[in-house]
Amino acid sequence: MEKVVQFLKDAEVYYLATADGDQPRVRPFGTAHVFEGKLYIQTGKVKDVSKQIHANPKVEICAFKNGDWLRVAGELVEDERREARVSMLEAYPSLQAMYSADDGNTEVFYFKNATATFSSFTKAPETVQF
Ligand SMILES: Cc1cc2nc3c(=O)[nH]c(=O)nc-3n(C[C@H](O)[C@H](O)[C@H](O)COP(=O)(O)O)c2cc1C
Repeated sequence: MEKVVQFLKDAEVYYLATADGDQPRVRPFGTAHVFEGKLYIQTGKVKDVSKQIHANPKVEICAFKNGDWLRVAGELVEDERREARVSMLEAYPSLQAMYSADDGNTEVFYFKNATATFSSFTKAPETVQF
């Protein structure tokens, strides 16, 4: 899982796909943080992406770096604990201009039942589950 997080951080941007009914939606994301051994991402409850995750927590993310790409498919679970939000905001100080742990908007999700696949045109795929 550390390798997954490192890849996402090195890539700087990944694309998060959600389901909006039968319509896929995708957008750039950047947050990737390990808290208590789990991979967390952050968003705001006001966003459509948040509403889509709550309606259907199955998501997939994709990132690309130096000819390799990573996909992570899994379910997102909201962690409603304040300390989880604080940990994320401390890891991304730039978010603190827009978000705070008690603003009623900030939310963090961790991956469960995740399958990460590293791929490239030159190597066999490598799969990690967490
Ligand atoms: C490089 C980059 C990284 C981003 N990272 C995040 C993020 O981690 N969390 C987030 O909520 N929005 C992030 N955004 C903003 C979302 O892409 C944007 O709010 C998007 O419109 C949300 O999707 P939605 O419109 O379907 O709700 C990022 C945008 C960019 C350009």
